[in-house]
Amino acid sequence: AFVLAAVLSASSVHGALDAKIKAKGKKSRISILNTEFGAVTPENAMKWDATEPNRGQFNFGNADSVANWASSRGKFLRGHTLVWHSQLPGWVSNINDKNTLTQVITNHINTVAGRFKGKVYAWDVVNEILEDNGNFRNSVFYRVLGEDFVDLAFRTARAADPNAKLYLNDYNLDYNGPKINNTVALINRLKARGTPIDGVGTQAHLIVGNLAPFDETLKLLASTGLDVAITELDIRIAKPVDSAKLAQQQKDYATVTTSCLTTPQCVGITIWGVSDRNSWVDGTFPNYDAPLLWDDNFNKKSAYTGTDNALN
Ligand code: G3I
Repeated sequence: AFVLAAVLSASSVHGALDAKIKAKGKKSRISILNTEFGAVTPENAMKWDATEPNRGQFNFGNADSVANWASSRGKFLRGHTLVWHSQLPGWVSNINDKNTLTQVITNHINTVAGRFKGKVYAWDVVNEILEDNGNFRNSVFYRVLGEDFVDLAFRTARAADPNAKLYLNDYNLDYNGPKINNTVALINRLKARGTPIDGVGTQAHLIVGNLAPFDETLKLLASTGLDVAITELDIRIAKPVDSAKLAQQQKDYATVTTSCLTTPQCVGITIWGVSDRNSWVDGTFPNYDAPLLWDDNFNKKSAYTGTDNALN
């Protein structure tokens, strides 16, 4: 099944947004999500810092809001994310013995994936575990447990929610080089030792005019035999934004959409946000703008048309 999805902040669902303009944005964002998308991913609400800020003390307020919104609207829900070095509370980063970390990972996954058992169609079980040079990232997980942490995470997730599709998710898999090659090699090792992995997610935080090998790399990921999903798509524009760059963005969204549609294992595309008004790009890349399908006023952009035409 091909699913077009969008990221959903819990604040979109129930957060206290004070400014009137934000209230308007909230309403528009939700109605666009409802009418245009078949699935949602919580942008932050299921991450470790949100769900288990202190050891054994779980907090599901925002995560439940997103999950309830999804189920009441008949939307698929992507779980994001169980094991990630970022938005990780200090009490986890400071663990330095194998037994404790194994227990902590096991309990976290059991509790979080268990809470949403049967409600999440796919989990990003591990997120961003390799560096651009292809080596494992120097996270607490790798430092203390080595590559075994990956197997532990997938096996625990499978037991906690046997019907969820289990994904390895990462960024910069849109270019040829050591990162994608070592991701494919890691997936092949996991499969060879019977670790339950179903899919590979390519985040696809892209830059307009700069995605020449996208189709090739997506098909390289598919060569693993796993499901493939584009999990966090946005295509940002170097400032100043002008009509030529917006026209290129339209083409680039069409290129990504067509790549997924022509890759039999590609199950769907998630856009990392709805309107250019609310995107992580603003805070992280001040020299870039306008990465999404709706503009600051919730009007459809040419990027929407490019995506829609490619889908049809
Ligand atoms: O919750 C606090 C709030 O209490 C505080 O007042 C406020 C002040 O800055 O910060 C809030 O936390 C922010 C959080 O989003 C929730 O809004 C963090 O500062 C902010 O850093 C965080 O950013 C998120 C980022 O992940 C964190 O790494 C972005 O919204 C989210 O879009 C982004 O998503 C990631 C994916 O999970 C993984 N792949 C890359 C992608 C983009 O960075």
